[in-house]
Amino acid sequence: MEININAVASPANETFSADWRTFESAHRLRSVTLLTDSVETTWDDARISSYHFLWLRDNCPCSQCVHPATREQMFEVVDAPENLVAGSVSLDVTGALNVQWSDGHRSLYEAGWLRSHAYDETSRSERAAQLRSVRPWDSKLVIPTFDYASVMSSDRVLLDWLLAARDVGLTLLTGMPETGKALETVATRISFIRESNFGMTFKVRTKVEAVDSNAYTALELPAHTDLPTRELQPGLQFLHCLINDATGGESTFVDGFAIAAALRANSPEDFRLLCEHPVEFWNKAPQSDYRSYAPVIGLDSRGEVSEIRLANWLRAPFNLPASEMGAFYRAYRHFSALTRDSRFIVSHRLEAGQMWCFDNRRTMHARKAFDQASGKRFLRGCYMDRDELLSRILVLQRNDPGRSIRAA
Ligand code: OGA
Ligand code: ZN
Ligand code: ZN
Repeated sequence: MEININAVASPANETFSADWRTFESAHRLRSVTLLTDSVETTWDDARISSYHFLWLRDNCPCSQCVHPATREQMFEVVDAPENLVAGSVSLDVTGALNVQWSDGHRSLYEAGWLRSHAYDETSRSERAAQLRSVRPWDSKLVIPTFDYASVMSSDRVLLDWLLAARDVGLTLLTGMPETGKALETVATRISFIRESNFGMTFKVRTKVEAVDSNAYTALELPAHTDLPTRELQPGLQFLHCLINDATGGESTFVDGFAIAAALRANSPEDFRLLCEHPVEFWNKAPQSDYRSYAPVIGLDSRGEVSEIRLANWLRAPFNLPASEMGAFYRAYRHFSALTRDSRFIVSHRLEAGQMWCFDNRRTMHARKAFDQASGKRFLRGCYMDRDELLSRILVLQRNDPGRSIRAA
């Protein structure tokens, strides 16, 4: 059965989307066809997307199925009759898909929403490509730099900054007040700060008794991620410079994802060892003892590198089968050597009134040693989870019509 547009009018009181986003589409549905277990739709660009009956019923956005206020589902797909079929399908005047179910229920789906959630091969690969937003970099990176006052006053600039933090993983803020609270002010402009045993915020300066971290000495810190000792490393790290009158202490960064990609391409065996063997990291102090046991290179379910975890001075002795120990040392030393390779390193001396904001699970940071006798050096820092960053981006995009979710 093939039905063309203008078949039925939609009732005015239907809820169209269970999402808080709107789904504009550059494409319209040309026709719909009822198959035995699915509805096949043809778009005006000739793409064909099929939707299984259960998938459609599961995603009915009507006010009986989705709570109109919370936009969360009340319907459970397990309650659909086992033999549920669509009795008839049509396109209404707005181009939405109208389905009359065999049990009497009726559903209406906006074309933009259907296009954005289509699961034919083309749509899926298109969406996967849109999700791959990581932009790898090396020593030639021009560090994305933003002005504090503009970030505070403009949602558009805030969004640009957050997209750079997400996609490049290294950003610099300039024009920060050189006072204590500026860090919290700008961090909470994004979302919740993640507290740790170092406090809601932490101070980086030399301590007389630096029992809880090498960071509180004047030593060089090799390229690392912070809190690799936790099951979940903080996603963002902020470091705000209040005073930097000491000689030395330059900040350097490498893109851990770019290094992992180079390793994967040139030494797949080293890459594999670092993905497969967990390493223990521990942060031992008189009153706390944090440990995690996870690989240096973390992969997501698609096999893409999603996390780097490494701070050499926090590492416990390797616990590996004897037959793998030699090869693992080769892989670990190889990765560490790449973090020292000038091809990958970006360097900048953080001045008072500047702040780093970087992806702590991707971008490894380091500090050159500084001379305590030459002057004072004082940074304040804090952490935030990636979830907060990503949520803030999505909400800002909702309100920014130029950058709303758009189906191809
Ligand atoms: C840290 C750190 C950098 C610096 O405290 O973990 O990396 O520049 N500090 O002092
Ligand atoms: Zn419904
Ligand atoms: Zn650090």
